[in-house]
Amino acid sequence: MKIAVIGTGYVGLVTGTCLAETGNDVICIDINTEKVKKMQNGEIPIYEPGLDLLFHRNIEQGRLHFSTDLAAAIKASEIIFMALPTPPGGDGAADLSYILGAAKDIANIIEDYKVIVNKSTVPVGTADKVKAVFENNSSVNVDVVSNPEFLREGVAVDDFMKPDRIVLGTKSERAKALMTELYNPYVRQGNPILFMDERSSELTKYAANSFLATKITFMNEIANLCELVGADVDSVRRGIGADERIGKRFLFPGIGYGGSCFPKDVQALSMAASEVNYDFKILKSVMTVNQEQKLLLVSKLLKYYNQDINGKHFAIWGLAFKPETDDIREAPALYIIDELIKKGATVTVFDPEAMDNINNIIGDKVSYAKGQYEALENADALLIATEWSLFRTPDFSRMEEKLISKVIFDGRNLYDLQKMIDMGYYYNSVGRKLIN
Ligand code: UDX
Repeated sequence: MKIAVIGTGYVGLVTGTCLAETGNDVICIDINTEKVKKMQNGEIPIYEPGLDLLFHRNIEQGRLHFSTDLAAAIKASEIIFMALPTPPGGDGAADLSYILGAAKDIANIIEDYKVIVNKSTVPVGTADKVKAVFENNSSVNVDVVSNPEFLREGVAVDDFMKPDRIVLGTKSERAKALMTELYNPYVRQGNPILFMDERSSELTKYAANSFLATKITFMNEIANLCELVGADVDSVRRGIGADERIGKRFLFPGIGYGGSCFPKDVQALSMAASEVNYDFKILKSVMTVNQEQKLLLVSKLLKYYNQDINGKHFAIWGLAFKPETDDIREAPALYIIDELIKKGATVTVFDPEAMDNINNIIGDKVSYAKGQYEALENADALLIATEWSLFRTPDFSRMEEKLISKVIFDGRNLYDLQKMIDMGYYYNSVGRKLIN
């Protein structure tokens, strides 16, 4: 099939590349000439495991193209994906100007039937607004489909190629048939393509992310409680996760969820509810608890140092909001660094992928280490903010040589408690206690 993808951000690039992989002819459009030139030359603008292989293969085999020429791409395509940003506007609600602007541009170009697919996370009712743009600007028949993405950064290619489900909001039989043909290769294992109305589809995305954020937050509060009552959160997690109604996944406590989706979507759903005079109380608590959880390590640290960390030096391992990504949006590390500096401490950081991104935001407020051990030089304590694999089995004797004191505050529960005690560390993690 002939596909256009408008917007080559994270979602657009993964979508375009993965659609080319099953034999479609895909053209990705962006207004950023520089970026398009780079992609035409085979340069991939984001770090996402497994994507580079598919990206290069499909460019070489002539199925994946990049261009700034919107009109030519639209005319040549049967299905047009919109993967455009929807940043929070001044009032906190999603800013739809990119999507509605693109819809107008497309409406002015099209000469025959197209399926317009929205991949961005948008408020309920957006599909209707997009439809209205077409009705007001073109006499050509189009179908607008809401198709939320559920890609996780770090495993986005796998998530796209083998999705748990594909959600499609449309009532049009013609669009349903085309979208089924397009997505059938991705659901060979029997996972469902779920058709529903546009509004339900739009809400599904917010509901899924908000539910998961709530699940994590609930576990974070259980972990906090474990510490106070002398229980062990790993045991509780296994105990409840074995119940199939609860499930094992997304039960890992830590220092709060971050990233480009959960924080934004929980806030957007809460706001959307209040716009129709519904007070979504759970979501408000989730946001408050998560904000506090991001600073959990700082409050533990302050307690350990009797509320005075002025002049202390700390190492931070992990800056990305989670492993296998260079994304630092809403990352707990950002909040931790800010707080430590405010309280008079100095900080050296290390992350395998996110150093440049942090540098762009906080510049020389912190020192940057070339490696994980170098980061520990003269540090009073180590703080672990992201569970990168290389932090899981470190050389503890090398760590001892560098650290001033054997003190670790671990926001991701990476190490065995008994081992840490045996090695003489002060080791403070989240919600855990030794089981004797
Ligand atoms: C998420 C959704 O999973 C995806 O479906 C959606 O389309 C986009 O948002 P992503 O933000 O890439 O994906 O990350 P995810 O792996 O879901 O993790 C989100 C956050 O939750 C991270 O900060 C992670 O550290 C945290 N998390 C996750 C926990 O704290 N505990 C867990 O058990 C799982």
